[in-house]
Amino acid sequence: SVYRATTTAPVNIAVIKYWGKRDTTLNLPTNSSLSVTLSQRSLRTLTTASCSGNFPAEDTLNLNGKPQDIRSSKRTLACISSLRAHRKALEDADSSLPALSKFPLRIVSENNFPTAAGLASSAAGFAALVRAVADLYQLPQSPKELSRIARQGSGSACRSLMGGYVAWRTGELADGSDSLAEEVAPASHWPEMCALVLVVSAEKKDVPSTEGMQTTVGTSALFAERAQNVVPQRMAAIETAIRDRNFPDFAEITMRDSNTFHATCLDSWPPIFYMNDVSRAAVRLVHDINRVVGRTVAAYTFDAGPNAVIYYEDKDSELVAGTVKAILGPNTEGWDGAFYDRIANVT
Ligand code: DP6
Repeated sequence: SVYRATTTAPVNIAVIKYWGKRDTTLNLPTNSSLSVTLSQRSLRTLTTASCSGNFPAEDTLNLNGKPQDIRSSKRTLACISSLRAHRKALEDADSSLPALSKFPLRIVSENNFPTAAGLASSAAGFAALVRAVADLYQLPQSPKELSRIARQGSGSACRSLMGGYVAWRTGELADGSDSLAEEVAPASHWPEMCALVLVVSAEKKDVPSTEGMQTTVGTSALFAERAQNVVPQRMAAIETAIRDRNFPDFAEITMRDSNTFHATCLDSWPPIFYMNDVSRAAVRLVHDINRVVGRTVAAYTFDAGPNAVIYYEDKDSELVAGTVKAILGPNTEGWDGAFYDRIANVT
């Protein structure tokens, strides 16, 4: 017989960015980070994991219709072997359970958005993989415990196992066992929060984030300053802003942290550029909207690519999303993309 589990995982967009590893093998971050999990209606990964004693001997992974070489992906192997070890422990404790840990796995995964477009596809991808295999294996581990496994796939993936507002605590232990994601607030705490994703360019990013952050860690003087002296205060301040549903504070911290992160990229050697002219036009537009309205109604943030994510509250949707779409749409020079609309009535 064939055992099977299907699941979806959402994209998350950090407002305090993870950038830099203190341990590249265990994938441990230099600083804590915090993200908002988006609704799965427009951006998500759908993954099915199955296993059977009748499958050909090796584990397989198919991503968006293409078979992947699983043996060359250390990260995928690390996730699968952790999950299998947890299953094996269950089977060792209860001999009536089928020996799924001995069966080859077949994992099929599909995104409903362009891969590697700077849209955090690795986050949703590894979160869905871990959740699907954990469901298949009927593991008792909580999302927080599973985040330890997803982190080994991709750091940002550990934050996609939970909805709402999620912190990834850097942790202190050398073995990384306390480097976990946890929910700061559920989506229902601040359901007015919305996000508009401007896909400026759906092309693959210039410098993959894993490589980019290593260059920054090794060469930027500003990087250490951000990790040690800037992020800890910002983490505390944004958690307070979320608790109080204080959008102006949430927005200012979000925008400043995106800018500081991109400043450390520019301070790397050789410098790394993720934002382009359209990205900078989006930054100016958000500041213009906030100035003209006379209060902070919108916040931008950029990951390792040119695409902008704009956070705003539902009541300001016409003002923010309407204006951004009218001004930075397909007629903008350099524009090559699409909008994903109102995707976070956070999941
Ligand atoms: C800029 O999670 O993709 O999006 O752990 O090497 O897979 P790896 O990196 P990844 O980095 C994400 C970087 C970021 C910021 C963030 O999501 O916090």
